[in-house]
Amino acid sequence: MTSADHDTRPLGRTGIHVLPLGIGTNKWRRADRGAVLQTYRTIDDAGPCMIDTAEIYFSERVVGDCLRAGPARAVIASKFLPFPGRTSPRGLMSALDASLARLGLETIDLYYVHFPLPLIDVGVFAEGLIEAVNSGKVRAVGVANFNANQMRRIADHLAKAGVPLAANQVNYSLLRRGAETNGVLEACRELDVALVAYFPLASGRLTQPSDGMDTKELLTCLADVARAHNASISQVALNWLLARDSHVIPIPGATKPHHARANLDALGWRLSETEFDAIDRASARGGT
Ligand SMILES: NC(=O)c1ccc[n+]([C@@H]2O[C@H](COP(=O)([O-])OP(=O)(O)OC[C@H]3O[C@@H](n4cnc5c(N)ncnc54)[C@H](OP(=O)(O)O)[C@@H]3O)[C@@H](O)[C@H]2O)c1
Repeated sequence: MTSADHDTRPLGRTGIHVLPLGIGTNKWRRADRGAVLQTYRTIDDAGPCMIDTAEIYFSERVVGDCLRAGPARAVIASKFLPFPGRTSPRGLMSALDASLARLGLETIDLYYVHFPLPLIDVGVFAEGLIEAVNSGKVRAVGVANFNANQMRRIADHLAKAGVPLAANQVNYSLLRRGAETNGVLEACRELDVALVAYFPLASGRLTQPSDGMDTKELLTCLADVARAHNASISQVALNWLLARDSHVIPIPGATKPHHARANLDALGWRLSETEFDAIDRASARGGT
């Protein structure tokens, strides 16, 4: 299958479209550089794949090195790390400048606030994000680890300045389905915001046949479905997330080109309704 065969998904109402699967880079700093460059080439070859980094991952420089090695069709997402004393728009803009320098870019496609802070009103982050868009240094803005209420509030602030909220990035996998019941998925649908799923392979637990009694039933079910499609457990797990809702964009982490290739091969085919339901039931009994 070539990149031309892959559909894309929108980042909310921003006009930016990405491959339905992105890639996480929080382990790129410590990984073998040659393998990381090959991993980058594999995903860039597939189309506008979202590369997820953050100042706290210390992988922005590595991503920047890959981009400089070109070509670059990837969509770059990074994150502002908020902590008390560093939440003002000025703090955000200076962190953004440092991220741009590490990435070697003039513009970041998607810039997130990495998590909310208990005593800080989300309006403060909205001001910083709006300034970032107006400066031309970011194309779109998002949040990560925000609950439904926080997400709605910041979307509201941003909308007053004509800035759409592109994404909420949350922990979401077949073993962690809280987003379906805590209102986040519902808010993403209602506000038309992408739900970017991190840990979509549950940090590797959804890549291998067995992982203890609590997940045995799910992994057996995934393995059965995988066999029927000549696919792998991880491909089925990713395919299920993609089928769950069109707003979902999983970003499996990978430091090896064959893992990135295998993940991209979760695109372009579909589970049957019966398979989807069987996985749904097995996951509901094993996950949280
Ligand atoms: N916003 C937040 O607060 C937040 C928090 C945590 C993570 N994240 C983001 O989410 C991304 C994903 O998290 P993660 O990487 O820790 O967890 P993950 O995507 O659930 O799992 C990644 C693990 O699975 C392995 N893997 C990937 N594809 C595979 C395949 N096809 N077959 C077998 N194994 C495979 C990887 O191995 P290799 O490395 O060997 O390829 C890695 O060990 C991070 O990179 C980061 O960008 C965001």
